[in-house]
Amino acid sequence: FQPKLMAGKRILITAGPTFEAIDPVRGITNLSSGKMGYAVARAAREAGADVTLISGPTALPTPFGVHRIDVQSARQMMEAVNAAIEGQHVFIAVAAVADWRVKNPSTQKVKKTGDTAPALEFEENPDILATIAARTTLAGHPYCVGFAAESENLVEFGAAKRARKGIPLLVGNIGHHTFGADDNTIILFDEQGHTILPRADKLTLARQLISEISKRTNKHSLF
Ligand code: C5P
Repeated sequence: FQPKLMAGKRILITAGPTFEAIDPVRGITNLSSGKMGYAVARAAREAGADVTLISGPTALPTPFGVHRIDVQSARQMMEAVNAAIEGQHVFIAVAAVADWRVKNPSTQKVKKTGDTAPALEFEENPDILATIAARTTLAGHPYCVGFAAESENLVEFGAAKRARKGIPLLVGNIGHHTFGADDNTIILFDEQGHTILPRADKLTLARQLISEISKRTNKHSLF
């Protein structure tokens, strides 16, 4: 008998895109389908964890046994993460969070007026992962995992991004077409270097990822 890898552990996951309002009926989003984050949530639950999934707008069903919280904007995602983070053993940020939001979203639908196109002003969104990773004073700081979608020089950028975000593990997606696809190839960056998980469907990779996280968190103070 082998106990489940993540039995008794609490895992918080972000997934999907964010939606940043321009007006009540329009907004700015991206092509993240949420598939990878949902697969990670499913794999974590299968491994026995108590899983909370904070999701931007997606068309996906909630994985069995997963507690899902729906949000739209990056700031709502940040708030939901802050509200749920206490007591989590692992935080996995898979969401494709918009770097920028519209500064003054209109409360009314923006109308066509003459020839002038409306101008949008932007302001920076919080970096959810970096914020949580920086909270080292939190009693029981969670093990933080990030994702990166770089199209070039992934090996070099991946290691740099892991350091910049201040996290122990960064997962790099290889290739340009991971958004919406069912397959993926990923590289894991940690303090030892990098490991490639060859092309497979996202659920297979998600299960491998949970197993890799489990190996690494055995040494983590919370485990
Ligand atoms: O810096 P970059 O956006 O490439 O980093 C990607 C990683 O950071 C992902 O894990 C993503 O979920 C997370 N992220 C975040 N909040 C942001 C931007 C990215 O949590 N505002």
